[in-house]
This record gives sequence, C-alpha cells and structure tokens, in this order.
Amino acid sequence: MAAMTIAKLAKKKIEGEKITSLTAYDASFAKLFAAKGVDFMLVGDSLGNVVLGASSTLPVTVENIAYHTQAVRNGAPDAFVIADMPFMSYATPEQACQEAAKLMRAGANMVKLEGGDWLLDTIRQLVQRSVPVCAHLGLLPQSVNVLGGYKVQGKEESAADNTLRQALALQEAGAQLLVLECIPSSLGKRISEALTIPTIGIGAGPDCDGQILVMHDMFGMNSEYLPKFVKDFLAEAGDLAGAVELYVQQVKEGSFPGPEHCFKG
Ligand code: KIV
Ligand code: NA
Repeated sequence: MAAMTIAKLAKKKIEGEKITSLTAYDASFAKLFAAKGVDFMLVGDSLGNVVLGASSTLPVTVENIAYHTQAVRNGAPDAFVIADMPFMSYATPEQACQEAAKLMRAGANMVKLEGGDWLLDTIRQLVQRSVPVCAHLGLLPQSVNVLGGYKVQGKEESAADNTLRQALALQEAGAQLLVLECIPSSLGKRISEALTIPTIGIGAGPDCDGQILVMHDMFGMNSEYLPKFVKDFLAEAGDLAGAVELYVQQVKEGSFPGPEHCFKG
C-alpha cells in the first residue's frame, strides 16, 4: 500500500471523508491497524497510563516515546506515525527541536505538542526545521496538576471563543493537524469549520474531520476508568481485527461518536 502522507489527510478534509486514527505502542498492533486501513497512528504519551500503569502521562520520557515509535514504525512501514512530545520536553523552542529530532529519527512523520498561544514560536521553529507539527487543544492531560483533574474544557462562551482563537493561531503558526480533546460538540464543529487543517476529535463530537481513541479504550481494556467518549468495539465485534474494522467503519460512516459519547456546551 502507498504510504499515507499529511497531504492525503488534508485532502480527506476537503473531500469530506472522515479520518480514522488510533494510538499504537507496538509493532503487532501497528501492523493490524495498518492492515485494517487506520489512516494514522499516534504513539501517545497515554502509554504512561496504558503501558506503564501510571495515573498520568507525566512520567513518560522522550526515550520512552522514541522506543515505542520505533516499534510502531517497524510494524507499519507505510503508516503515517505521529509521536507525542512528552511533558517538559518542549519547554523552549530549542529544546523542542532537539527532542523532536529524536522522535523523527525513531521513525515519526510528525510530532504532537499540547497547548496554545505559548507554543506558537516553538511550532514555527519546528516547521522551519522540517518537523511537521500536530497541535492539541481542549483537555491537556500534561496539565492535569493545573487543571485539577480530567474535565471537559471550553464550556463557557469565553473559553470556547478563546479555544477557537488559539486553534486559528496554531494553524497560522504552521500546525498541519489539530487534536481536540474533551470539548462540547458545538465547539468541535465551530473549530473544524473555521480551520483549513484537519481536526481530530477525542470527546469533541461527530463534526471533527477525524476521530482518535486510545487503542486499549477501543478494546474495552480500561475497566476502572471509562470516559464518556469511549466505546468498547471489541465487545460488539468479538475479536481484535473485527473491533478495528468496526471502529474504522463507524467513524467513516459518521455513526461513531454517537450522542451518548459527546459533551454538551
Ligand atoms: O496520548 C494520547 O493517547 C493522546 C490522544 C488521547 C489524543 O494524546
Ligand atoms: Na498525548
């Protein structure tokens, strides 16, 4: 299969075709996801939760992400792979460039950073140095100690307006993809319509240009904490391959996420 590219993902938005994505951390699942037509994979710092068993993403290091990026790349040579920049690995633009290089060398096609206005210069510098960037707004798990928990963001009108403004600024700075996490569906729709770059939602409603889930959540494996936006596709499909197929199909036809997986403003 021809390699997936950011240009092909951008074309999907223009043509109104939903983008499908999952997190991946190892070669075997990456191979399965690629075979089932998942458009891109994210080596998320959620590996702190689902692989390491920590209660947040904060313990994850660049070396951890690089190791898992290499595994995913080995399993899916033609996949579009995004690697998360972990907590405190992009505190300055200079540090971001040095740490991003390690992830690109490990096989990533793009890196993802959490945040808005304070990241604009960092994004410009990464893009100028040939590191494609995915931005991330809404709930920012690396900021859990500031936020005081994992809560829906952008509910008040002023917060929603501010998130939209930051999304436009991130696009202007050179971000080519934007993850939106845990925001009201109405705000997910507003941002997706205002931006030319694709938006990828997780708890951000059905009107984002694509969807992402943590793979363990999609397989129903996070039993003690199941966020509202999660659906157990394995329970419905019966086996791993079938679950991935069902997820891809439901995202493409727009039946996932349903109203029961979404947040109101
Ligand atoms: O780390 C992760 O898995 C993520 C997704 C939830 C978008 O950032
Ligand atoms: Na992440």
